Amino acid sequence: MACVLAIETSCDETSVAVVKDRHCCSNVVTSQIPVHRQYGGVVPEVASRSHLETINQAIAQSLAEAQLDWGAIDGIAATCAPGLVGSLLVGLTAAKTLAIVHQKPFIGVHHLEGHIYATYLSEPELEPPFLCLLVSGGHTSLIYVKDCGHYETLGETRDDAAGEAFDKVARLLKLSYPGGPVIDRLAKEGNPKAFPLPEGKVSRPNGGYHPYDSSFSGLKTAVLRLVQKLGQDESELPVPDIAASFQDTVARALTKRAIACARDYGLNTIAVGGGVAANSGLRKHLHEAAVEHNLRVLFPPLMYCTDNAAMIGCAAADHLNLGHISPLTLGVQSRLPL
Ligand code: KG4
Ligand code: ZN
Repeated sequence: MACVLAIETSCDETSVAVVKDRHCCSNVVTSQIPVHRQYGGVVPEVASRSHLETINQAIAQSLAEAQLDWGAIDGIAATCAPGLVGSLLVGLTAAKTLAIVHQKPFIGVHHLEGHIYATYLSEPELEPPFLCLLVSGGHTSLIYVKDCGHYETLGETRDDAAGEAFDKVARLLKLSYPGGPVIDRLAKEGNPKAFPLPEGKVSRPNGGYHPYDSSFSGLKTAVLRLVQKLGQDESELPVPDIAASFQDTVARALTKRAIACARDYGLNTIAVGGGVAANSGLRKHLHEAAVEHNLRVLFPPLMYCTDNAAMIGCAAADHLNLGHISPLTLGVQSRLPL
C-alpha cells in the first residue's frame, strides 16, 4: 500500500490531499472562483499568485486532517500537465521541494489521468477496462482506460470543451461565472424543447460524421443568433427556455457519443468525471440511455469530479506501487496528450 501526499494546482483550485491507494484520508480544496468571478473567467496571473498564497497552509491542513506526519508518507505527487503554466509550477515546485526535504519519491501526474482515477475513490473495487467520459472546463474526452498508464483517447472536442460552452453561453445570457451551475439551475424551470438547436457534428474528410468527437462552437453561435433574434429587450428573453434547450442539446450529444463508444468497444462501464458531470441533464440522459443499453454509469461525488488533489494522489499511489517515479528534472507543460 502506498500513502501519497498530492498537490493539484493546474487551474483555479489549490488542492492538497493525502491518499492511501484508493482511500482518501484528506482532501483540502481552496477554490479561487470568487476571485475570478469579477473578471468573468480565470485570469492566469491571479491564479498563480493565489496558489502561492494558499499552498503552504493547504499542505499543513491536509496532513493535519489525515492525522499523519511526514514519516507516514511514501511519496509526494503533483499535477505536471496540462494546465496553466504558472499555476502548475507552484504545485510542482512545492512537491519537488517536499520530496527533497523529506527524502521521498516524487511522482508527476497527468491531470487527465487524475480525473480518470477520481472514480476509484468512490468505487475502489472498479477495475479496467472501462470508458471514461471526461467533461470539464478544459476537456471533453472519451478515454478507453486499459490499465494504469495505458489510455487511448477515442473522442475529443474539436473546439470548445463542454464546460467552456456552458460558461460562454452563460456569458451571452448575462449570467454569472462559472456558467454551468447557473444554467443547470435555470434549465429546471425551462422547456428543453422550446428551441431546437444544432448538436454540432464533426465531419470526416471522406464523408460521414466522426462518431465520438464533439463540437460545441456551432451550438454556442446558434444560441447567440437565437438571443439576437429574440432579444429586442434583454429583460424579456426566455432565459430558462434557452438554458434548458442548450443543456438538453449538450447532454444528448455527450450521451449519444459515450454510449456509441462504449458499445463499439465492448465496454460495459462508463465513468464520468469533470465539473460537467454535475449537470442534471447529462446525468438524466446518460442514466436513461445506460439502462436502455444495459450499461453501468458511475458518477463520482462532485468533490471528486471537479479539480481536486485526491484524484492525483490516487493515480500517483498506483504508479508508486508499480515502481513508477518521476525525475526531479520533470517540468510543467501547458499541453500534453494523455
Ligand atoms: O472540472 P472542473 O472543475 O475544472 C476544469 O478542469 O475545467 O470543471 C469546471 C467546469 C466549468 O466550465 C463549469 O461551468 C462546469 O464545469 N460545471 C457545470 C456544472 N457545474 C460545473 N456544467 C454544467 N452543469 C453543472 N451543474
Ligand atoms: Zn480538471
